[in-house]
Amino acid sequence: MKKTKVAIIGGGPAGLLLSHILALHGISSIVLERQSREYVLQRIRAGVLEHGTVQLLRDVGLGERLDREGLEHNGTLVTWHGEGSFVIDTMKYAGRPMVAYGQTAITEDLYAAHDRAGTEILDRATDVVLHDITGVQSYVTYTRNGEAGRIDCDFIAACDGFHGIGRQSIPASVLRTYEQVYPFGWLGIMSETPPMEDLIYARHERGFALASQRNPNLSRYYIQCPMDTDLNDWPDERFWEEFKRRLPAELARTVVTGPSIEKSIAPLRSFVAEPMRHGRMFLAGDAAHIVPPTGAKGLNLAVSDVYYLSRAFDAYYNHQQDELLERYSETALRRVWASERVSWSLTKLLHVFPQDSGFEEKMRLNEFQYLQKSERALATLAEQYAGLPF
Ligand code: APR
Ligand code: PHB
Repeated sequence: MKKTKVAIIGGGPAGLLLSHILALHGISSIVLERQSREYVLQRIRAGVLEHGTVQLLRDVGLGERLDREGLEHNGTLVTWHGEGSFVIDTMKYAGRPMVAYGQTAITEDLYAAHDRAGTEILDRATDVVLHDITGVQSYVTYTRNGEAGRIDCDFIAACDGFHGIGRQSIPASVLRTYEQVYPFGWLGIMSETPPMEDLIYARHERGFALASQRNPNLSRYYIQCPMDTDLNDWPDERFWEEFKRRLPAELARTVVTGPSIEKSIAPLRSFVAEPMRHGRMFLAGDAAHIVPPTGAKGLNLAVSDVYYLSRAFDAYYNHQQDELLERYSETALRRVWASERVSWSLTKLLHVFPQDSGFEEKMRLNEFQYLQKSERALATLAEQYAGLPF
């Protein structure tokens, strides 16, 4: 049996970052992760950081490699087949650059910091069950290495992703969920080739395409695909051909192709659970919300949740104030809905929806043309894309 102030379920970026910041404030925590560390570290996820995320990571001592390897961008290029392009220039319109730095690298940095600090991270923990969430003494039980364990705690932070148990522990009479599933996915590849100069969101009548990057010799590319796509039908040559077809010709010529080192299909979903607190349990990150990847807001939202939650625990333990904990759900959700909105609107603008009529297509085109013409429209988009201040 163990005892800690905050039991954290999930050792993804949200759980690891929360534990790291709590330790800086002298607040004990134990992380329970179902998978092995190796498994968590090989998961490939998004990789564009808002300025606020970068600032926070620097503030908590995680900026060293990020500043060395992260690729700073003034914004993202949006192209539309046959119609030209515009740049969502976050530097110009919001005074804030974006940084390409993979979630995998952040997770590595977090594990390294935890190893130095000696935090307790229990990986391969199964059968995790939350007890007495609304009682006076909460506790968590689990199995690890074939043995049953128990952690007594003041609070539980459920950072256990979309399929976690935290959200499921909230009674149906309390939980409200909001969801939209999009009728397509993203087929993504990673390749050890120099990336394109810009981050590019490309709209084409054959579907959306995205060029992203991890480091000077690691690129990430995606194309919109039907949900029932079979990876076996997509050898690298076919991927490159389709990807290039969706870009303007002058940009397509600059793509450096090579063998893929990873290939996968991701569904697109918008999802929010309210409230993000039940009794002594708080939800953070994908456990509470999912955004479609257009806009790259998922990881940034996990970081802002953790910012609000760690600040609230600091106020509670170190300044005897519980107001921020009381208001956590409301505060975090305000920012969540803002990011949900910009992700949803970029997804609707840039993808081909199989059921849409010609009318919707015209509306989309008109919005693109308006963004091309209007500095004000572009400034509004850039401010939201850059991410609201925490
Ligand atoms: N017990 C213990 N751990 C669990 C359980 C459980 N019952 N269920 C899930 N987990 C673990 C998962 O194995 C995973 O490692 O919780 C972790 C959740 O991590 P993520 O899914 O990465 O979610 P989060 O930390 O909120 O990260 C934010 O931003 O870019 C997006 O979706 C992307 O993962 C990213 C997210
Ligand atoms: C990525 O680099 O994986 C990435 C970039 C931008 C997005 C989504 C994913 O909008």
